[in-house]
Amino acid sequence: MGYDAKFKVWRGDDEKGELRDFTVEVNEGEVVLDIIHRLQATQAPDLAVRWNCKAGKCGSCSAEINGKPRLLCMTRMSVFEEGETVTVTPLRAFPVIRDLVTDVSYNYEKAREIPSFTPHENLEPGEYRMQQVDVERSQEFRKCIECFLCQNTCHVVRDHEDNKKSFAGPRFLMRIAELEMHPLDVGERTDAAQDEHGLGYCNITKCCTEVCPEGIKITDNALIPMKERVADRKYDPLVWLGNKLFRR
Ligand code: SF4
Ligand code: F3S
Ligand code: FES
Repeated sequence: MGYDAKFKVWRGDDEKGELRDFTVEVNEGEVVLDIIHRLQATQAPDLAVRWNCKAGKCGSCSAEINGKPRLLCMTRMSVFEEGETVTVTPLRAFPVIRDLVTDVSYNYEKAREIPSFTPHENLEPGEYRMQQVDVERSQEFRKCIECFLCQNTCHVVRDHEDNKKSFAGPRFLMRIAELEMHPLDVGERTDAAQDEHGLGYCNITKCCTEVCPEGIKITDNALIPMKERVADRKYDPLVWLGNKLFRR
């Protein structure tokens, strides 16, 4: 059975804006994105929202619902009480372009800072063989849909704009971990993660893992193993000796 739900939706840009009240029809089986589309169709034709697949696969419709970072297309209306007011706001860590659409270019800048897969130069086509266990490990990280909910949630940048310069964020630290764990990659990843991409800022609060719509264990399977590799390297007697001899 349908009912009328109360919504508060952010209208405005990075300079100014406000939460506007709406009452919108909700039907059985609908998700929050359906309601936003109904709002556009009936009451707010200029409401800006980014979306593509409506299937939890493109990562475009990220926003905050009642203050929690979520995908609009994967949040069922049935998780809310019928009398509850549902508040929809743009991602907080990124500049608002208009209404629910944010400028997520920080993420693309961070992606570009990571050198791509680097196999050994003598490796010929046909020699790219990997153990199944290594394939499966990176499969988990490859499920990422680049919704940037984890990037938006991590407290290192959520309330600290200044940290963006030196912190790649969980999604891209996970990318570095994926490459570091790849048996055919010979790029130097460990020191770079710590010194250039800000791994040390992460104090493993796991908020990134909690919001990931793909259920990727970002902290346990990528960030903590990466921190362990950094620690191992730091206390490796050969590395220590090398630093003593060559970095004076
Ligand atoms: Fe989104 Fe998860 Fe990828 Fe982060 S790791 S961008 S939360 S899919
Ligand atoms: Fe941030 Fe995730 Fe670390 S939320 S602090 S990157 S565990
Ligand atoms: Fe593609 Fe929501 S519209 S993930």
